[in-house]
Amino acid sequence: MSDAPRKIIIDTDPGQDDAVAILLALASPEDIEVLGIIAVAGNVPLDLTQRNARIICELAGQPGMRVFAGCDRPMVRPLVTAEYVHGKTGLDGPQMADPTMPLQDQHGVDFIIETLRREPAQTITLCALGPLTNIATAMERAPDITGRIQQIVLMGGGYFEQGNVTPVAEFNIYVDPQAADIVFRSGVPLVVMPLDVTHKALTTGARVKAFRALGTEPGRMVAEWTDFFERFDKQKYGSDGAPLHDPCVIAWLIRPELFQGRKINVEIETQSELTMGMTVADWWGVTGRPSNALFIGSVDADGFFALLTERIARL
Ligand code: BDR
Ligand code: CA
Repeated sequence: MSDAPRKIIIDTDPGQDDAVAILLALASPEDIEVLGIIAVAGNVPLDLTQRNARIICELAGQPGMRVFAGCDRPMVRPLVTAEYVHGKTGLDGPQMADPTMPLQDQHGVDFIIETLRREPAQTITLCALGPLTNIATAMERAPDITGRIQQIVLMGGGYFEQGNVTPVAEFNIYVDPQAADIVFRSGVPLVVMPLDVTHKALTTGARVKAFRALGTEPGRMVAEWTDFFERFDKQKYGSDGAPLHDPCVIAWLIRPELFQGRKINVEIETQSELTMGMTVADWWGVTGRPSNALFIGSVDADGFFALLTERIARL
């Protein structure tokens, strides 16, 4: 790729699939410059997600990466976590030592605001791999930054696949629907990786074997994380592996041609308890509401896993 690497901030709640996404980004300096990683409460509470983010940077051989702690709870609703998928630490599976690299003192939301004000407008992409609390809080606190964001690429929602934490809501949107509503109404160009696409990126036996066959520590970790978290989805869906959700966000930045979607209108349910956090996605264009998101529906899964394996092999 001849263009300068795209500058991104990763907002995340690791999570094994978040971890693979972060490794992919850190392994791809020709495509992506990671300015910082911000933890948010989601899969597990914030004290664990910030710790996990630092473990992942050390695994990638990048202890100099800046990791920040962001919000410890959603904007309005109480925190809902997902230890039943990701384990008690959020990164259950292989044994992992505590990280030694420091957590930054600055609050993650302040880092987002400061970075967007400092860098030229439209040069920073936010990559959201968890609930949208940090990003929406930054927009509320400093409305001047919203128009400066180049793009937000996020994992969340579902239309054909509907939900995974309730019948109609996907976890990241469900945990903080008020934050999601702010982001989806912000006017910032959005690229959305819903369950519709991530459920096509399955960790089959052959794909996990390829990670293990790398013979490196990161390759082994990815295989062992996958072994751990896929048990839940395999049992639930009867599938040959689990969806590797969050790496779709980073892979789209590197190889967008692997993905296909539609520019559509997406709104977030914030009122009804029954359908709370649903992404009301106008895939068929029946409302006449203006599009606010590129909503991805499919992926070349073999190409996606080939990219992941090739990049993780570098670490
Ligand atoms: C999303 O929820 C989390 O459990 C995963 O890390 C992913 O971001 C999938 O619904
Ligand atoms: Ca996540």
